[in-house]
Amino acid sequence: MIKAERIEKSYNGERVLKSVSLSIRDGEFVSVMGESGSGKSTLLQLLGGFLSPDAGRVLWDGQDVASFSERALAALRCERMGFVFQSYQLIPTLNVKDNLLLPTVLGGRLSEETKKYVEMLCEELEITPLMKKLPETLSGGQSQRVAIIRALAYRPSTVILDEPTGALDSRMEGKVMALLSRINKRDKTTVIAVTHSERVAAFADRIVRISDGEILREENEKANGAKGG
Ligand SMILES: Nc1ncnc2c1ncn2[C@@H]1O[C@H](COP(=O)(O)OP(=O)(O)OP(=O)(O)O)[C@@H](O)[C@H]1O
Ligand SMILES: [Mg+2]
Repeated sequence: MIKAERIEKSYNGERVLKSVSLSIRDGEFVSVMGESGSGKSTLLQLLGGFLSPDAGRVLWDGQDVASFSERALAALRCERMGFVFQSYQLIPTLNVKDNLLLPTVLGGRLSEETKKYVEMLCEELEITPLMKKLPETLSGGQSQRVAIIRALAYRPSTVILDEPTGALDSRMEGKVMALLSRINKRDKTTVIAVTHSERVAAFADRIVRISDGEILREENEKANGAKGG
C-alpha cells in the first residue's frame, strides 16, 4: 500500500501540490490525469521518494519514505519500484542493453532469468535491434520504450510511469498498455500511470483527476469492481 497523507509541495513560494491525500492498494492500476502544470509529475516523484514533501508524509507499507536510510531508498529504487520519468532519464554513456540491465545489476539481481525476461520485453516492444545504440541516437518513442523496459526488468511490485505512451504511435501505445495490463493482472504489479489520453486511462481501475495541485475527483473506471482476468 502506498499512501500520501496531506502532502504539500511548493517551488519558489508557488504551491504546486496542496494537501493531497491518496491511497493506492497493492495490485491496483491507477491513472492520474490533469492538465499540463497541474502537479502530476511532482506527485509521482513524491510518491517515488525522488522528492520530499514540504508537509505531509508518503508511506510505503506504513513506513514514511522520509525515514528511509540511503540503503532502504536504494532498495526501493532497485527492487520494489520501477519508475519511468517523463524525461526517461536514460544514462547517456551506456548503450541500450546496459541501460536496461543497470537497475538489476545495482540491485544485485542479474540472473539468466532476468536476462531472458528483458529479451522477451525487448522483442515485445521492438527494441531488440537497438541494443548497442546510445540513448542520444534513439528516437523519442524508442527512448520511452527503453525506459519502460528498464523499469519492468527486475519485476518490481510497483511501477510508476509518467506519461509512458506520450511519445508512442497508437500501435505501440497498444502494445505498452497490453504489457502493463498483463503485469498488473498476472503478476499483481501495482501500476500508477500519468496520462493525457482517456484511452490509456481507461485501462485503470481508478482515475485520479488533478487540477491546480489538488485532487479534483476519483473515478472508478471498472465500476462493478469485476476486473477481468
Ligand atoms: N523543479 C522545479 N522548479 C520550479 N518549478 C517547478 C519544478 N518542477 C515543477 N515545477 C512547477 O510545478 C508545477 C507542476 O509541475 P509538474 O511537472 O508536476 O506538472 P505536470 O502536471 O506533470 O505537467 P505536464 O502535464 O506538463 O507534465 C508547474 O507549474 C511547474 O512549472
Ligand atoms: Mg508531467
